[in-house]
Amino acid sequence: MLRAFMLIVLISCSHQVRISSPAISENRKFHEAFSKNEMVTSQGKGTTEAALEVFKKGGNIIDAFVAASFAISVERPHSTGIGGGGFLLYYSKKENKVYAFDFREVAPMSAVTNMFLTKKGDTQPLLSQEGALAVATPGLVKGLYEIHKRFGKLSWEETMRPSIRLAREGFPLYKQLHEALIDRKNLLLLDPEAKKTFYLDSGSVPKLGSLVIQENLAKTLEVISINGATGFYEGKIANSIVKTINKKRGLLSHRDLKTYKMIERVPVTGIYKGLKIYSMPPPSSGGVHVIQILKMLEPYKLKELGPQTAEAVHLTANAMQRAFLDRATYLGDPDFNKIPTQSLVDENYIEKLSQTINTPNAMKESSLKKIELPYESTDTTHFTIADREGNLVASTQTINGWFGSGVIAEGTGIILNNEMDDFAQKVGAKNLFGAVGGEFNLIEPRKRPLSSMSPTIITKNDSPVMALGSPSGTRIITCVAQTILNSVEFEMPLYEAVAATRIHQQWQPDVLKIESPFLDPQVESELKIKGHKVIHEKLGCSIQAIRKNHHGWEGVSDPRGEGLAKGLN
Ligand code: DON
Repeated sequence: MLRAFMLIVLISCSHQVRISSPAISENRKFHEAFSKNEMVTSQGKGTTEAALEVFKKGGNIIDAFVAASFAISVERPHSTGIGGGGFLLYYSKKENKVYAFDFREVAPMSAVTNMFLTKKGDTQPLLSQEGALAVATPGLVKGLYEIHKRFGKLSWEETMRPSIRLAREGFPLYKQLHEALIDRKNLLLLDPEAKKTFYLDSGSVPKLGSLVIQENLAKTLEVISINGATGFYEGKIANSIVKTINKKRGLLSHRDLKTYKMIERVPVTGIYKGLKIYSMPPPSSGGVHVIQILKMLEPYKLKELGPQTAEAVHLTANAMQRAFLDRATYLGDPDFNKIPTQSLVDENYIEKLSQTINTPNAMKESSLKKIELPYESTDTTHFTIADREGNLVASTQTINGWFGSGVIAEGTGIILNNEMDDFAQKVGAKNLFGAVGGEFNLIEPRKRPLSSMSPTIITKNDSPVMALGSPSGTRIITCVAQTILNSVEFEMPLYEAVAATRIHQQWQPDVLKIESPFLDPQVESELKIKGHKVIHEKLGCSIQAIRKNHHGWEGVSDPRGEGLAKGLN
């Protein structure tokens, strides 16, 4: 395994610096691609191929987006699916406009703020993570259907064909799905349909490479391909979802399904080093904080310090810490609370924040205002698409934790999300992961839980430059910001920008996480001397990025994962 990792050596302009990076050299051909035409980077080989297949049939970027969304729902059933939701950022070259679409799950109408608390007011984290109460109303199918109706070119049915085939014919079991099946075995074996679909009769996890076939899901997708979104939100499939939820004492009702609405939002924007950054606004916290982190760092000219030097990492960690304090203080569903999105990305405000991060030592978390962040788990998916006309798509989708709530709607193959866990069970209460929730993210009927998903698009002088995103809870924000920093500030080639070792600091817990392979030991000891509480931890991000170069598009699927970057030539 160790042989699979290599250290990349880069020379930065004023220093000779060694960049540590988990670049897996022998797999590079799957993770990096160049094309003048269409380009797709996703976390699944079948998904990238599904999007390309639709392009080859004459489909446009939105057809490819729909095809990829359904295919990834099949190919990463532990991460995402039609029982979940997500966000899309879409850059239309012709209009020079970035659209933001929110098909995030919403709390059921009969949800109440204290629904997970005991009579004494204690939290019950497991209830929002496993079982029917954890399920919020899924938004994915409605989102895809409406976006396709507005912008698609091929028929709806044609865009769904590759995913139906993938579900019916199957794909080889890969490492992360294998790990997820082991991790969630106790929960999934309680459900006969999950057991039959994903495990051997003995209850063991099949071997790596065995075919994963989801026949019930294929049938469900067929119904949706014929009847559109109504096929999911009404009729037999809706009946099965509600019946299963009722049986397991959940809250989701027919009215919740029937009245689900996708929302078009205005992207949050910022100018960073002459580039225009567009990202996802609330109910995601992602866009606001990606922009804050980059802009706080802009005046410090990190390139002169050098990438992965103690001073550059120190400033970056401080910027992350400041941003996450704001996240806990101000973010939530904008349809329920007044979220000061524009103020949070205001140039003068960020300049003031920026002045506070140049400290000799690590900033003391206790000297900052105390509210801890709501917990978010560690799975989800992201894909990015570009076409020859210069249109871009960046979409992050999720059922939240691995295999969501673990509840499958009987006979449908639909794994329902556990997005209720992205709410705060109560203000100030610690959850399973030791994190505490904020006031604007308390549960309310029909409210959207706070997210960190950060699909991001960058333009310069009205031309597309880059699009990217990642899974991995709160780490999404810092992984996306660091990839942009590596690409724009440190001018790294895209593959190295994605592969370079990442750090994460989210204010609380007050630790500086560094992924493997670690930074130079000398750098790490300087960081410790400055007072950073360094711990080594996998961060779980899987950046999917596309960048414009002189010849066309360069696509990179994070070498940490099992995805595929591929173009049409
Ligand atoms: O919306 C969110 O931010 C979380 N539900 C996403 C979960 C996630 O990214 C876990 N990922 N790997």
